[in-house]
Amino acid sequence: MCGIVGYIGPKEKKEILLDGLQELEYRGYDSAGIAIIQGEKLNSFKAVGKLKNLREKTKDYTSKGFGISIGHTRWATHGKPTELNAHPHLGAYSYVVHNGIIENYQELKKELQQEGVTFLSQTDTETIVHLFEKYHNEGFEPFEAFKKTVNRLEGAYATLLITEAAPDTIFFAKNGSPMLIGFDGEEVYFASSDTPIIGKANEVYYLEDGEYGYVQNGKVHLFDSHGEKVFHTQPLIADKAMAQKEGYRFFMEKEIYEQSRVMGETMMGRVLEEEIVLDELDADFFKGINTIKICACGTSYHSALTAAYLFERLAKIRCDVEIASEFRYKEPLLTKDTLFVTISQSGETADTLEALKMAKRAGLKSLSICNVDNSSIVRESDTAILTRAGIEKGVASTKAFATQTMVLWMLALYVGQVKQTLPKEVLKAEIDAMLHTPKALVVTDELHARLHRLSKRYLHGHGFFFIGRDIFYPLALEGALKLKEISYLHAEGYPAGEMKHGPIALADAELFTIALMPKTMHYDKIKSNVEELSARDATICAISPLPFELADDFVQTHYSSHPMVEFFEMMVVTQLLALEISVRLGNDVDMPRNLAKSVTVE
Ligand code: AGP
Repeated sequence: MCGIVGYIGPKEKKEILLDGLQELEYRGYDSAGIAIIQGEKLNSFKAVGKLKNLREKTKDYTSKGFGISIGHTRWATHGKPTELNAHPHLGAYSYVVHNGIIENYQELKKELQQEGVTFLSQTDTETIVHLFEKYHNEGFEPFEAFKKTVNRLEGAYATLLITEAAPDTIFFAKNGSPMLIGFDGEEVYFASSDTPIIGKANEVYYLEDGEYGYVQNGKVHLFDSHGEKVFHTQPLIADKAMAQKEGYRFFMEKEIYEQSRVMGETMMGRVLEEEIVLDELDADFFKGINTIKICACGTSYHSALTAAYLFERLAKIRCDVEIASEFRYKEPLLTKDTLFVTISQSGETADTLEALKMAKRAGLKSLSICNVDNSSIVRESDTAILTRAGIEKGVASTKAFATQTMVLWMLALYVGQVKQTLPKEVLKAEIDAMLHTPKALVVTDELHARLHRLSKRYLHGHGFFFIGRDIFYPLALEGALKLKEISYLHAEGYPAGEMKHGPIALADAELFTIALMPKTMHYDKIKSNVEELSARDATICAISPLPFELADDFVQTHYSSHPMVEFFEMMVVTQLLALEISVRLGNDVDMPRNLAKSVTVE
């Protein structure tokens, strides 16, 4: 949610900023901007919409030679996506970029306005730059003025500030929103995540909450509430090639196709012939644990809902799942026999991170399942299991969901193993099924072509119901979320047995029902639910290995003997259907309107 970059050094700054923002554009793409101070000269450019507009606007500008620079790509929180609301925000002689939400900005703004400051934007961010200049004008040195400013901020922020009052310095502060510092000799980079600095910096430091400071003459001065601190960088190792489209039309498409391969990575060294090995967990990790509570948002929440069935059914351990934003404010009763699990692709989701901090304050043991090593959630958890999906760039999550669900399935078996609640022969059968999942995830040309053809019939109507039972209910929720995210059509996921308790009132030929009808799980029950809808003229698209005579459209999946294998195959079908509908509607598949990849505000 919003992306920040910064650079101090002799290279062409405009290109470094624009290339960095390109890598972060998936986090927010309402507008973008850059500000550069070189010698005495301060330049800034902003453009509404995608980064290409900013590129166009800056095409004749060059910025070689030593200087300082900051850039931002925005996902609007306060104020519309206009040029005035785009970052960097200007005071009289300073610029600021910010990711997060300054919760007390109205109070600060009022105070500044009473002192005669004029605000140009509707953003919370603009208060930072005016506050800084107020303190500087009162006679404080730039760093003291910045420090006093940061002390006044409440809420979440990762912020960079540059000023003509210190034209060789970048000031930075972090609390709640991610930011890191990259190093290449005397050149220093800032970014919201490591992708913009891969190939540029070779060492990195991930800022902690409450840290702030400045960089000058290639040296970073880092402070926290105890004063200046010594910090240690780590090597930056990442493979940028993983984040290219490699011939696919969209990142989402590439990521759907990749699922079969990455699932192998997720299982590697963990799924053995007769046991599950999770090196990340100590032998007595589950000692004294009687309940599992999972908190997550969006797609990750759907993966958690799937897991709840698996934990209770396979491991015989109680499992509750909560949406992180609800959990935070419900004053939950937490007991120390509960393992607190967070699931997050990005590892930066603000609500999930805060839920984790709450659980830790209550003394619970914590485990995160995450795709990004070194992310805030991973660092905050007692231990983490990485999903190993590789960088996911499409805003609509696909391979992250698949690998999260796989890790949770493994974890359920692992708990059954250590608690000895899972008979050996059941464990063996589950492992056999697991080893079949990469095959179930393969996208064949035939399947893709079938969904491409079908998609043209689903571009209108007054809504979609994805229905399923048991683990296919969370899959229905996920299928509906995928479709609405990228098609902008209304879609709901529903437990099939619940339709007649209200939603069936909507049934008519323009109501599209995507029915998940696995052979291995309650087939006859869901069949009757679909028949009830068909009898009321709803249009039925059935996904099943068994031919279904009442289906208006039918996508045949393979026969399998295990529900999870069916689950993963049907997941691919729903992902491709959403993708093809979105393409036909002419939408931006990878950067759908109003969304951002990483939701770092609550
Ligand atoms: C998925 O398609 C969504 N874009 C969104 O729901 C996402 O899953 C949610 O914001 C949680 O993100 P996380 O997994 O990075 O925590």
